[in-house]
Amino acid sequence: MEPRADIAVIGLAVMGQNLILNMNDHGFTVVAYNRTTSKVDDFLANEAKGTNILGARSLAEMVALLKKPRRVMLMVKAGKPVDEFIEQLLGVLEPGDIIIDGGNSLFEDTIRRTQYVESKGLLYIGTGVSGGEEGARRGPSIMPGGSPAAWPHVKPIFQAIAAKVADGTPCCDWVGEGGAGHYVKMTHNGIEYGDMQLICEAYHLMKDGLGMTPDEMHEVFKEWNTGELDSYLIEITRDILAKKDDDGTPLVDKILDTAGQKGTGKWTVISSQEMGIPITLIAEAVYSRCVSALKDQRVKAAKAFKPGKTRFAGDRREWVHAIRQALYASKIISYTQGYMLMRAAAQQYSWHLNYGGIALMWRGGCIIRSVFLGEIKNAFDRKPKLDNLLLDPFFKKAIKGCVRNWRKVVSMAVRKGIPVPAFSTALAFFDGIRSERLPANLLQAQRDYFGAHTYERVDKPRGEFFHTNWTGTGGRVASSTYTV
Ligand code: 6PG
Repeated sequence: MEPRADIAVIGLAVMGQNLILNMNDHGFTVVAYNRTTSKVDDFLANEAKGTNILGARSLAEMVALLKKPRRVMLMVKAGKPVDEFIEQLLGVLEPGDIIIDGGNSLFEDTIRRTQYVESKGLLYIGTGVSGGEEGARRGPSIMPGGSPAAWPHVKPIFQAIAAKVADGTPCCDWVGEGGAGHYVKMTHNGIEYGDMQLICEAYHLMKDGLGMTPDEMHEVFKEWNTGELDSYLIEITRDILAKKDDDGTPLVDKILDTAGQKGTGKWTVISSQEMGIPITLIAEAVYSRCVSALKDQRVKAAKAFKPGKTRFAGDRREWVHAIRQALYASKIISYTQGYMLMRAAAQQYSWHLNYGGIALMWRGGCIIRSVFLGEIKNAFDRKPKLDNLLLDPFFKKAIKGCVRNWRKVVSMAVRKGIPVPAFSTALAFFDGIRSERLPANLLQAQRDYFGAHTYERVDKPRGEFFHTNWTGTGGRVASSTYTV
């Protein structure tokens, strides 16, 4: 068998199939393999009919078809299946060959797998692939990390199939070593959770606060999609609100209000906890999905605490504008937090992340693609070492322009009993981060009072710790001072 294929893809679920078809469109010869081999035959007889795509019924056959260094991309479920395939591939591949994992793997697994595969003399890439079915087929955003030596071999394929921004730059570039690619994809997903929650809160406010119908909200989202909120998620929300069920009524009203999740948002929050970075908005977005999943409890509590009905009296246009500004300001906070997290992770794992480059990778192809990400790219072009997005002149001005209406919207929601955890945590973070003095002085006093945990003083240099015998009955000995 002549080795003529450029890359193999294992896993013929929708993402795998669409990536293969995309690679084929760009002139690459791809071998398709699936554990259940009937899927290979099915794919070749249907979606891949009339293309140059090859099929393999065994890993040995797949390997024999590949040019060297062999490139094998796994598009299988994250977790155990990835480890199992790596083990099998190590048995049939040779040193210098490249294993690529394109699933939503946990970055710590990718760090471990990169080390393991490299220890066997092969190269490894863990890559984020975003954009759903359509993105995989027409141009996803691709975020690869792992063994740097693998990148030149994979780059021509990945950059060819990736989405492109207006000037033709591909939404794919090398992210960094080890788990960097999957970390950036995980953060992307966390931000995706945040964006979705913000849109849902705006919808909730318009629906229950302003009494608007799906058709009316469709018009609002249509308008929002022409300005600074122009993005894929606003666009699909516009279309979702217009969609009718078979009986002609809005389909959105028929969908059960319990959200699912596959774990990437949760991982983002866990990682932020490990690093002490307050990504409060993403955390609230994850918890909001958890609250939504408690449907039975909510039904009971709703009976126990019936909300009083308040009629909306006010200028609807003005309120819609205010909600739009609250959403925009909250979104700025969410991305500020997401970038703070990536900065901390880069330090922790010694990655050299290119923050403007990440914004560019997210600018097209992925689920959070938006005009907004172009502004983030501009901010990092202005100041590559920018350590807080809020301090960039563009975003500073934008927040200042929104803050009045942001407060007005959060107050209205609180008064009406409409939950807006993401809008309000964003505002609380903003008020916290811009407070030179917070009440943590009192908190430190409390810790020292009950546990002799010590405190620093405003009139002494940082790093000097003091203990007070608050009651007169405590001892002289303080507990050791450390911060996790
Ligand atoms: C993407 C999406 C994709 C997937 C999410 C869904 O970037 O294309 O993020 O990776 O749809 O993992 O996540 P939940 O099921 O957790 O909402």
